[in-house]
Amino acid sequence: MARSSTFGLLAFLIGCLLPSGVLCLWPIPTALETGTTGLKLAPYFNFEIDIPGAPADLVEAVAQAKYYLETDKLGRLVVGRGVNDTAALRTAQSLSSLKLSLTQGAAVESISYESVKALGTRSEEYALTIPEDGSAATLTANSTLGLYRGLTTFGQLWYYYGGETYTLLAPIAITDAPAYPFRGLALDTSRNFYPMEDLLRTLDAMSWVKINTFHWHITDSQSFPLEVAQYPQLAMNGAYSPEETYSASDVQYIVAYANARGIDILLEIDTPGHTAIIGETYPEYVACFYESPWATYANEPPAGQLRFALPEVANFTASLLADVARTMPSTMFSTGGDELNTACYTNDYPTQQELNATGMTLNDALNSFTMATHGALVAEGKTPVVWEEMVLDWNLTLYNQTIVMVWISSEDAAAVADKGFRLVQVPSNYFYLDCGAGEWLGDDPTGNSWCDPFKTWSNAYTFDPLANLTEAQYPLVLGGAQALWSEQSGPQNLDPIVWPRAASSAEIFWSAKQPGGAALNVTEALPRLHDVRYRMVQRGLMPIQLQPQWCALRPDACDLYA
Ligand SMILES: *[C@@H]1O[C@H](CO)[C@@H](O)[C@H](O)[C@H]1NC(C)=O
Ligand SMILES: *[C@@H]1O[C@H](CO)[C@@H](O)[C@H](O)[C@H]1NC(C)=O
Ligand SMILES: *[C@@H]1O[C@H](CO)[C@@H](O)[C@H](O)[C@H]1NC(C)=O
Ligand SMILES: *[C@@H]1O[C@H](CO)[C@@H](O)[C@H](O)[C@H]1NC(C)=O
Ligand SMILES: *[C@@H]1O[C@H](CO)[C@@H](O)[C@H](O)[C@H]1NC(C)=O
Ligand SMILES: *[C@@H]1O[C@H](CO)[C@@H](O)[C@H](O)[C@H]1NC(C)=O
Ligand SMILES: *[C@@H]1O[C@H](CO)[C@@H](O)[C@H](O)[C@H]1NC(C)=O
Ligand SMILES: *[C@@H]1O[C@H](CO)[C@@H](O)[C@H](O)[C@H]1NC(C)=O
Repeated sequence: MARSSTFGLLAFLIGCLLPSGVLCLWPIPTALETGTTGLKLAPYFNFEIDIPGAPADLVEAVAQAKYYLETDKLGRLVVGRGVNDTAALRTAQSLSSLKLSLTQGAAVESISYESVKALGTRSEEYALTIPEDGSAATLTANSTLGLYRGLTTFGQLWYYYGGETYTLLAPIAITDAPAYPFRGLALDTSRNFYPMEDLLRTLDAMSWVKINTFHWHITDSQSFPLEVAQYPQLAMNGAYSPEETYSASDVQYIVAYANARGIDILLEIDTPGHTAIIGETYPEYVACFYESPWATYANEPPAGQLRFALPEVANFTASLLADVARTMPSTMFSTGGDELNTACYTNDYPTQQELNATGMTLNDALNSFTMATHGALVAEGKTPVVWEEMVLDWNLTLYNQTIVMVWISSEDAAAVADKGFRLVQVPSNYFYLDCGAGEWLGDDPTGNSWCDPFKTWSNAYTFDPLANLTEAQYPLVLGGAQALWSEQSGPQNLDPIVWPRAASSAEIFWSAKQPGGAALNVTEALPRLHDVRYRMVQRGLMPIQLQPQWCALRPDACDLYA
């Protein structure tokens, strides 16, 4: 982590305000210096990769960056969209190349390799300089992953008007590194299914704002779209249809696509709750299966949870998780662990019989189950990831390195930290993208979503990841993620419900503060987020509007007290 790194360059905060609408980087770099000179991209502009044996995914990333430079064609977000920049560009020099190189002694590994290293051991930092006189720009880093981040930044510097691609802020010098190693987006593909193309498009958008972890909540009680070679019946009986599945090769395609874009995939198979659908294949493994009323036994229909007290269920679950985890390059794997309903087991004969026979309590049984499943993951070289209940509601023996996701409330982070665990901030009261869409249960016309209200980008942006923690606990915070639970989402609303809101946490966990050291500030951020959003539109996404375009073209004119 480089949270307290100091860099040689003086940091100036320019943002989009001075001069209006010019430099709209997101996330804002650790340190940046800019001038006031216009600079055009030469028509023959090229990237020069000064790295012997450059990895194929770096070469592809460069080709992609070149494609965006040619096709973004984003007009500056000012009145006139750049009509008056032509004069400033008349005498401007043209930039003909950006030279990419690794620092001396740096290992030449692929982006994909660097992207899945253990948290805290990746190098995402980079340095970018763009002279005003047209001489070559340079991008250096200690890893290809750092070069990838720098390429992303370079792509955000340019605007288009009247046939020219240009910046008005040359010379530019940036040194940049993330404040936190885990910057995620969580997506549930069980409540509703998302075809491959939707996931790929989302991964692209994540990479544009330097989000580096796709937390894939791939199964739940409602459907099991994941095809597992050793347990083919799970998807056969558990997917919504044969078409609504992720085959092993689909998953590998997603993994490769993500890793090449600097994104690690944290796969989650939620257990022992959220597993009703497994009962379609193994009814003997599931308690309170489709029991009614469902609300007595589960937080969502249908009821049904693994009979974790039974040794054969622990054995099955450990094998299932290990078989899937073995196919994933990430060092992390999530076993879930949220919302376990104890009433489900009160009258469950096999569970009670097992507890009677062994003299174990339900907690003891969950402990054995968790030790078996986590033991199997650790044997595969994975770090277990769990939801907060596994440390706050149950007394379990967890591996020391276990990562805990805080979700119920931001106020629970301190309790998790008090137990000494590393944690990821996914607080529903700031970061849940599905809140505020109204009730999805039938027969409840006056109901609302459980986590009302809608979490605006600006509310999410005010989240302080270190709130209520002691300074000694700060290093336990690995980062955070915004999350979309898909009860009311699918391919049709994926872009607008996620973007550009999910960029809020991307900046909180990359930048943490403004380059000058001031706290992040929604007033300063809004014009830059407009820029993110308008550039996403240019690249084919469907992000929601944040304001009327009149406001987007006039920074601050629509502020509450303007
Ligand atoms: C462009 O410049 C002209 C001349 O200075 C000015 O009258 C006009 O308002 C400017 N247009 C915009 C959109 O700023
Ligand atoms: C690369 O690593 C060196 C030595 O650890 C460090 O001083 C430098 O800031 C790093 N970053 C870049 C972009 O060179
Ligand atoms: C499951 O049980 C079988 C047979 O007893 C055993 O060989 C295997 O190691 C167990 N698997 C796990 C993951 O515990
Ligand atoms: C478990 O033990 C209790 C107390 O001895 C008894 O009432 C109950 O019937 C037993 N349940 C099962 C399933 O064996
Ligand atoms: C949790 O379990 C440990 C080990 O079994 C035990 O020593 C401890 O007292 C338990 N704590 C609580 C709060 O039940
Ligand atoms: C920090 O604690 C205070 C007092 O309990 C609470 O009001 C506040 O919401 C907490 N901060 C966060 C981010 O949860
Ligand atoms: C893990 O071990 C470290 C070093 O001994 C300790 O500081 C930390 O509190 C432990 N974490 C947990 C969750 O026990
Ligand atoms: C936020 O930024 C704006 C514009 O840069 C500034 O006027 C305002 O004082 C800042 N607010 C805080 C709380 O720092």
